[in-house]
Amino acid sequence: MDIGKITFLLNDEPVTIYADPAESLLHLLRDQLGCMSPKEGCGRGECGACTVILDGKAVNSCLVPAGKAAGKNIRTIEGISDGKSVHPLQRAFVEKGAVQCGFCTSGMIMSAYALLAENPAPRQEEVKRAISGNLCRCSGYKQIEEAIMTAAEEMNENRVRFVEKEQKE
Ligand code: FES
Ligand code: FES
Repeated sequence: MDIGKITFLLNDEPVTIYADPAESLLHLLRDQLGCMSPKEGCGRGECGACTVILDGKAVNSCLVPAGKAAGKNIRTIEGISDGKSVHPLQRAFVEKGAVQCGFCTSGMIMSAYALLAENPAPRQEEVKRAISGNLCRCSGYKQIEEAIMTAAEEMNENRVRFVEKEQKE
């Protein structure tokens, strides 16, 4: 095992760690950095439970070698809210009953977060496609899709309100 120095941003905070660059980003996050929201389901890119955002793209962190994180910005669910209030996606998942056992939830939300960053007003088929790599064993896809659409609407309304307020000031 070759241990190397890896420096990257985790939720906008600089991190420097010594690790085997060939180990998975998932294990680096969970075992060395105590970031437990990405879950290990299949460990081979099939379930999406380990989804994080790597420089704006949703990725299966179980398939990404830790060395690939060097110089990048990694975002997990811990980094999507400001710490004072929950993100609209988190709120909508709870309100729409899209969280059952919760194992898939952080991966689902990270896939949705990446989608809404690129496409703030997705159609239902686009939502379905964005979460097609995220499996939910509790079969809550209808509620999950509703939650993502609801969060998108709320975020767009907030954006409109913000722009109107800026224009008045
Ligand atoms: S644990 Fe990574 S895709 Fe299943
Ligand atoms: S809520 Fe249980 S796996 Fe999705």
